Amino acid sequence: MKPEAPLTLVRYQDVREALYDPRLVIHKPLAVGQTANHLVDDATGQRSHRVRPLRRSLAQHLAPRRVEHLTDFIESTVDSIVTEAESVGGMDVVRDLAFPLPVAVMGELLGLPRKDHAQLRPLFEAITRGHDMGATEQARQHARFAQTAAMRWIGPELRRGRPSPMLKAILSVADADGIEPQMVDYWCLMLLYAGSATTRDLIANAVGLLLERPTDARRLADDEALILPAIEEVLRFDGPVRGVGRVATEDLVIGETPIPQGDLVYLMLADANRDPEQFPDPDSFDLTRSSNPHLAFGMGVTHCLGAQLARLEARVVLARLRKALPLATTPDADDWSPVRLLRQRNTLTVALSDQR
Ligand code: HEM
Repeated sequence: MKPEAPLTLVRYQDVREALYDPRLVIHKPLAVGQTANHLVDDATGQRSHRVRPLRRSLAQHLAPRRVEHLTDFIESTVDSIVTEAESVGGMDVVRDLAFPLPVAVMGELLGLPRKDHAQLRPLFEAITRGHDMGATEQARQHARFAQTAAMRWIGPELRRGRPSPMLKAILSVADADGIEPQMVDYWCLMLLYAGSATTRDLIANAVGLLLERPTDARRLADDEALILPAIEEVLRFDGPVRGVGRVATEDLVIGETPIPQGDLVYLMLADANRDPEQFPDPDSFDLTRSSNPHLAFGMGVTHCLGAQLARLEARVVLARLRKALPLATTPDADDWSPVRLLRQRNTLTVALSDQR
């Protein structure tokens, strides 16, 4: 017998409504003992009084004005990666830029020394597979191992030097509520993961889309003002998070879809972002789309806290690469991960020369 297809919501209005509905709570497929709690969720899946101060504090540290201070760090990191790539004639955008950049940025925020980051990639990919729609028990088991291995790495790293301002704030929230150090390590790991597993895909997908569309790449090379709308259009057209899981705490109906209590439902952000009732000509990638209220960062109480940071990283990457992209070539722009809830490239090889 074929397994039942998971319940999904795909219409823009339905997904938006579901994101705001408190009767739909975050799905946590990877519960492991004490560390089972979601970053901003308590054991029942409801918003907890314990996590509100954490979210408030993180929101302050990730506010647009605060993250702008990271611009120099991001620019110099991007410049050294791209200059090196130009000197050798190219790079794998995922391996050399899209993965290490956000990990370095989150490392800067959390105060993690800049080494050994490459070893995190297979661990993060295992965690992603374990959270995926229809993940097998084996994938979940691998994800639990990967999570444990990553926590063994991050704990000592966090305690190695003086805590960064963000880590200090996290520690003080934990202290005020008697939260054990292992949970602090888990929060930091989930932040590192949330901030890098997704921004990686925004950067790689932006570069990939422009490599496939030389006319758009030339327009961007000629007009810097198109960088910001281009990023919003990448988020809508090829956004990193394709869907998020929720569990119904009671019987409910969204749009015309009944969702029984206890059932898992996926809110498909990617489908909502291509809904023709919301976006005219939704399957065209349009750098000058006039209204773009996409759902790539979610909505409501779990709306992404790192949205401005992710946008900043993508902005710096496109500003540095935009002159080179119209002339760059790629032998394989089509190597995608089979993961269903992320729009994730495995590789994106690009031949580059210095066009500044
Ligand atoms: C392009 C990059 C990113 C995308 C597409 C993205 C997407 C999302 C989405 C869709 C959610 C909502 C999840 C849900 O409702 O179940 C979310 C939540 C979250 N994101 Fe992001 N994210 C990105 C980058 C970041 C970065 C850079 C950080 C950290 C610096 C971050 C931290 C978080 C946190 C902490 C939450 C949980 C918020 C809560 O539950 O209160 N994200 N993100």
